Amino acid sequence: MKTLVLTAHPDLSKSRINRVWFDALSDAQEVTTRDLTDIGGAQLHFDIETEQALLMAHDRIVFQFPFYWYSAPPVMKAWMDQVLSYGFAYGPGGDHLKGREFLILVSTGGPEHSYHAGGYNNYSMAEFLKPFQQTANLAGMTYLRPFVAHGMALASQDQIEATVPDMLAHLTDPDLDPKVKQARLLKQLEDDPTKAAAVS
Ligand SMILES: Cc1cc2nc3c(=O)[nH]c(=O)nc-3n(C[C@H](O)[C@H](O)[C@H](O)COP(=O)(O)O)c2cc1C
Repeated sequence: MKTLVLTAHPDLSKSRINRVWFDALSDAQEVTTRDLTDIGGAQLHFDIETEQALLMAHDRIVFQFPFYWYSAPPVMKAWMDQVLSYGFAYGPGGDHLKGREFLILVSTGGPEHSYHAGGYNNYSMAEFLKPFQQTANLAGMTYLRPFVAHGMALASQDQIEATVPDMLAHLTDPDLDPKVKQARLLKQLEDDPTKAAAVS
C-alpha cells in the first residue's frame, strides 16, 4: 500500500509536533511526504498535473496539518482548490480518486475533553472535520478514521515524541477500512471455521 502524506503547515521549521511527524513519516516505508508550503511557495501555487499524477500513484491519501481555527491552514485549501478539479475529482469523468483511501492526521492545541458537547470547543473533531469527509465522499474515496493528537499547545517534547509510534501504526494500518478488515476476517474464517467465535 502506497501512502501519500500532504503536509499543510505554514512553516515546518517552527513546528513542534508536525515537524516530528513529518520526519518520522519521511523515513517510513512506502510513504511519500510533501511539504505543501515548500512546494507551493509564497503564491501557494501548485503544478496541477504533478499533484494529480502523485495522487493517482498512491492508494492512501493523508492530509496532515495543525488545527487552525477549527480547520486546516490556508495552504491545504489552496491545494484542494487547485488540484481537486472538475473532471478529475468530481463531475463527468472525475473518478480518478475513486476507491482510494483518505485519512486526516491532525494536531490540536486544545485538550481532548474540550472537543465534546459541553466542553469549551462544544463540538467533536468528527463534526469539525465534516467538510473533509464530504470532500472524500464526493471524490469517491473511503474516509478512514482520523488520527488526532490533542493538547499539543502544552505538550512536552517527550509527550510529542510519544505520539509517533501510535501515529505510524495508524497511518500504515492496512485494515483501517472496516470493510477491508471484515473481508480479511471472513477469509480467515473460510480458511479455519473453528475460529467462528473470534470473528463476530
Ligand atoms: C493561527 C492558529 C490557530 C489555531 N487554532 C486552533 C484551534 O482552532 N483549535 C485548537 O485546538 N488549536 C488551535 N491552534 C493551536 C495549534 O493547533 C497547535 O499549537 C498545533 O497543533 C501545534 O502544531 P505545530 O507544533 O506543528 O505547529 C491554533 C494555532 C494557531 C497558530
